[in-house]
Amino acid sequence: MSAYAELKRRRATIYNLEHLQGIATWDRMVNMPSRGSEVRAAAQGELEVLIQGLQTDPAIGDLLSAAGDERLEADDEANLGLMVREQKVARALPEALVRRRSELVGAASQAWGKAKAENDWPSFAEAFAPLVDCLRERADRLGEAMELAPYDALLDEHDRGLTLAAVQALFDPVRAWLPDLIRTVVARQARETVLQTQGPFPVEGQRRVGVAIMSLLGFDFDAGRLDVSAHPFMIGIPGDVRITTRYRESECFQSLVGIVHETGHALYQSNLPPAWRGQPLGEPASAAIHESQSLTFERQVAPSRAFAAQIAPILRAEFGDQPAFDPDNLFRLMTRVRPGAIRVEADEVTYPAHILLRTEIEPMILSGELPVADIPAWWGDRMQALLDIDVRGDDTRGALQDIQWSQGMFGYFPSYLQGAMIAAQLGAAFRQAHPDFPEQAARGAFGGLKTWLGDNVWRHGSRLTTDEIVRRATGRPLSADALKAHFESRYLEVAP
Ligand code: CO
Repeated sequence: MSAYAELKRRRATIYNLEHLQGIATWDRMVNMPSRGSEVRAAAQGELEVLIQGLQTDPAIGDLLSAAGDERLEADDEANLGLMVREQKVARALPEALVRRRSELVGAASQAWGKAKAENDWPSFAEAFAPLVDCLRERADRLGEAMELAPYDALLDEHDRGLTLAAVQALFDPVRAWLPDLIRTVVARQARETVLQTQGPFPVEGQRRVGVAIMSLLGFDFDAGRLDVSAHPFMIGIPGDVRITTRYRESECFQSLVGIVHETGHALYQSNLPPAWRGQPLGEPASAAIHESQSLTFERQVAPSRAFAAQIAPILRAEFGDQPAFDPDNLFRLMTRVRPGAIRVEADEVTYPAHILLRTEIEPMILSGELPVADIPAWWGDRMQALLDIDVRGDDTRGALQDIQWSQGMFGYFPSYLQGAMIAAQLGAAFRQAHPDFPEQAARGAFGGLKTWLGDNVWRHGSRLTTDEIVRRATGRPLSADALKAHFESRYLEVAP
């Protein structure tokens, strides 16, 4: 067996174990009885050690250098390049650091839940400060191995080649035009009449509506599931993709929009190139590309009159008729713009402000320039300036609102705004190529969109970088222009 073939075999083994790890995580979030947490943590920890052992096996270094001398096809060459990269990352982090991080994440997660319930930043800070120190060390080591600045090394983990300078160049124009745009849209919408839906909406009914919409978008229920969890997520591999949502009986839009979002993630994940399953080349290109696929469905497709006309009969069949289910009203409901403190509840126009704030603060926290104790004060000032929202004194609506930091995730937030930009730019390119899409969508025909996304995004896996995917699909490098044009056409040009 060639060295490269042996590397592929080993990578496939890791992939299969990681798939089981993912299913165990899904089960923990969806099904596990509360007393199962201790034994599950032990079992998943054991599996994690096993996987890490395979990833850092010293024999891999020799195999990689031997494979470098073998004659390979172009795609295999690219796959080998990605293996080298994975190996660099795996070897950059000593086992003790990996273990310490997971312990500190455990403590910070627990402290976060409690601190959030009690609006108690200092008690979270006690658990978070040592985690930040650990993340700093981790970023330093990754940066050394990848020859990158520490924060860039964290960005690079989610999107290879991405730097803070590049993110700032992308986001700076948004910072300039967003405040005026928000003010104009809010003023314009103040003149519109919108009917709120009248609940209650029983959970079973909402679930049936969700399933109907997923089917409409082409989700394959023979290769995936929809379940309930406290925080919605998508997990899985082609052939078995699971998404989750959460329901409130008082209204049905939160779950509905969440389901459309996760369905977009699921369609991408399910359609990664099958020939490369188990290999780095068959993985998603980046967090930003993944998010762009969920946002293509959530923000490009769903908030349209054509889509509203599709879901109106589904809602009426399940919950009976009511004036709010009129398609024009559904469209207005899905496009309400109102500045608020909470990122995950934000509409698409004010959402970028939440990411600008996090993209500014994270590098300062990581470098130590902003001490953990001073985060709430900085957050309050910045939120006031960006959205004119006062959260001072209420950190549950400020720096305590996100789960990401307590999980040790730094460098991830920018991908949400990049994803929105990519979705807007892909959406514009797709509509240019398929001007009849609104008529197709009004008939519930999403095959054309899925074929286009499949050709331009899904089938590439990790073969291309984020940047290369966007350039090839749209003929231009990524910029904020398409997002701005999308906002203007949806919120300022069309008659209310
Ligand atoms: Co998402």
